[in-house]
Amino acid sequence: MGCCRLALCLVVVLSSLPDSGGAQQVKSARTIDLLIRDYTFKSYSRKFIRTGMMHSVILPQNLSGIRADTVKYRCGSLRRYGARLKEFHLGVGVTITPCAERVVVIRQFLEQNWSTVYYSNYDLSGYQLISPVLGLLAYNAGSPSEIGISAGEIPITVNFSSPQTEALARQNQRPGIVPLCANFGSDGKLTLSNMVALAPYLCLASGSGHFGLVTELPPVQARRKESAWKVAIGSSIGTALGIFLLALLLVALFVKAKKRSKREEMERRAYEEEALQVSMVGHVRAPIAATTRTVPGIEHGYTPSPP
Ligand SMILES: *[C@@H]1O[C@H](CO)[C@@H](O)[C@H](O)[C@H]1NC(C)=O
Ligand SMILES: *[C@@H]1O[C@H](CO)[C@@H](O)[C@H](O)[C@H]1NC(C)=O
Ligand SMILES: *[C@@H]1O[C@H](CO)[C@@H](O)[C@H](O)[C@H]1NC(C)=O
Repeated sequence: MGCCRLALCLVVVLSSLPDSGGAQQVKSARTIDLLIRDYTFKSYSRKFIRTGMMHSVILPQNLSGIRADTVKYRCGSLRRYGARLKEFHLGVGVTITPCAERVVVIRQFLEQNWSTVYYSNYDLSGYQLISPVLGLLAYNAGSPSEIGISAGEIPITVNFSSPQTEALARQNQRPGIVPLCANFGSDGKLTLSNMVALAPYLCLASGSGHFGLVTELPPVQARRKESAWKVAIGSSIGTALGIFLLALLLVALFVKAKKRSKREEMERRAYEEEALQVSMVGHVRAPIAATTRTVPGIEHGYTPSPP
């Protein structure tokens, strides 16, 4: 009964813990993609934009900190010539599947204050993002369905080189630790790989998706960065276990004390009974012995002979 109430209390406390995500309303990376897609398609419907011309998408206030740029391509010419969209370079031979006549390619730039979304959608424990998250996505221009971009023989490159990223990388530099390329897969998996040797802050990609640069956290910080949930759940399990063990200990002590007092009581009773028997025996025997030994003697010795 008490245990159940304790568990209920823990659940209530845990579910009322404040959200560590901050003020952002959008919680999923997928939702951000869909919002950006919708604003991008709206921007194309507003005015005529030539194929091959890049333009910035105007996003609402509640998405500030996110930038999006877009270009429309013919699938065939993208394959023939490749393309460059800000940080992304698509080499010759890049394929779009399924190949729509025209594709809308979007480059996303999520400032660091949006990285919480990625921390909560992917298991980044032990690492920290030191770059903006960059996204490369493609949609069929006719219907806004997402389509895949895959690199041909020449891989897609993502250039993270920027004064801010380089400053952050220097700040977190430790011997033997270099930044790693992170690929945030659409299946929820995080894939880490090395940067391109020789070219600083350059990563390779085999297709569309979301990318970032991460560095390993020092062990102490890594432990501190573990999600608040894990810590909360871990510590409440620990507390509950502690209380349970304490209760067990108390019960054991109580049982032992009770046993001891019972044993003492029995011993006391046994001792008392023994003592009583001895005194009773003594009581009975002493007068008999006294009379048989002393009385006749006295009578014999001191009996004056009759005159
Ligand atoms: C962001 O603001 C727009 C209006 O500017 C609104 O339609 C949309 O629902 C808001 N999105 C979120 C996630 O708050
Ligand atoms: C993110 O930072 C930019 C400035 O760098 C700011 O304008 C924007 O409001 C911030 N967005 C959020 C959701 O905190
Ligand atoms: C990456 O971008 C930086 C500046 O933004 C530029 O100086 C550098 O040459 C680029 N690297 C490659 C390999 O394109």
